[in-house]
Amino acid sequence: MSNIHITYFIFILPFTFLLQTSLRVSAVPPLYHSCSSTTGNFTSNTIYEKNLNTLLDNLQRDISPLRFSRAVSRIRPSLFFGIALCRGDVKSSKCDACVRHASIELRKSCPYNKGAIIWYDDCLLKYLDQSFFGKIDSKNKFYLLNVANVSHDPNLFNQEVKGLLSKLALESANTKELFSFGKTKLDEFTNLYGSTQCTQDLSNKVCKICLDEAIRELPSCCYGKRGGRIIGGSCNVRYELYPFINS
Ligand SMILES: *[C@@H]1O[C@H](CO)[C@@H](O)[C@H](O)[C@H]1NC(C)=O
Ligand SMILES: *[C@@H]1O[C@H](CO)[C@@H](O)[C@H](O)[C@H]1NC(C)=O
Repeated sequence: MSNIHITYFIFILPFTFLLQTSLRVSAVPPLYHSCSSTTGNFTSNTIYEKNLNTLLDNLQRDISPLRFSRAVSRIRPSLFFGIALCRGDVKSSKCDACVRHASIELRKSCPYNKGAIIWYDDCLLKYLDQSFFGKIDSKNKFYLLNVANVSHDPNLFNQEVKGLLSKLALESANTKELFSFGKTKLDEFTNLYGSTQCTQDLSNKVCKICLDEAIRELPSCCYGKRGGRIIGGSCNVRYELYPFINS
């Protein structure tokens, strides 16, 4: 694991505040989390809390070889839906550890919320008191960017980013794990690296729609920047000038 520090700005859509954060590549703190405010709160030591803990246990237990799990847990009158997903290249043991950690953090960060999501470099975890499987989550989304400008012509660079990610989006949508990564040569000394991934509750077709939308949004955050990521509740896209995927 590398020890490079990369400076990112993190922007939360659609809000206007921003904060600067210095991320260690192997960072334990989450990239971001969000507690759902529309579906309300429950109180401690209730059926809701018991059911949510059951759901989170099941999500950790049932992670598939494709690095995904989904679960539904009902203890009347409470009902929860959840997913856990690791980055496609993350080793199984690391994936399990990330989801376990995410589960603890999410209970701490959103203790009584009926909906919540948390993102790490290696995984995401989400639950809600209504079904969201198969639908694009357009509510939970943020972006990260490397503030340094590229030394290339930003217009041409932007086209290269779009070209690479669009190709990867198509590839992702045609795989079972809905994940893809790759690179393209920019010049003699520089490669552009990219990755695209959807949560596996989406169909191939809906995955492609989600990724295309994220790719369309990239220029508004990351035009001419050396790295950028659009991270949502259903899919994410990323590009960098260094290899960030274990292949
Ligand atoms: C719900 O819980 C959150 C903390 O997770 C708290 O900030 C919020 O005020 C609570 N909302 C209500 C309506 O009690
Ligand atoms: C990046 O480029 C923009 C537009 O050319 C410029 O305004 C900005 O100051 C540059 N930022 C850095 C960090 O060099």
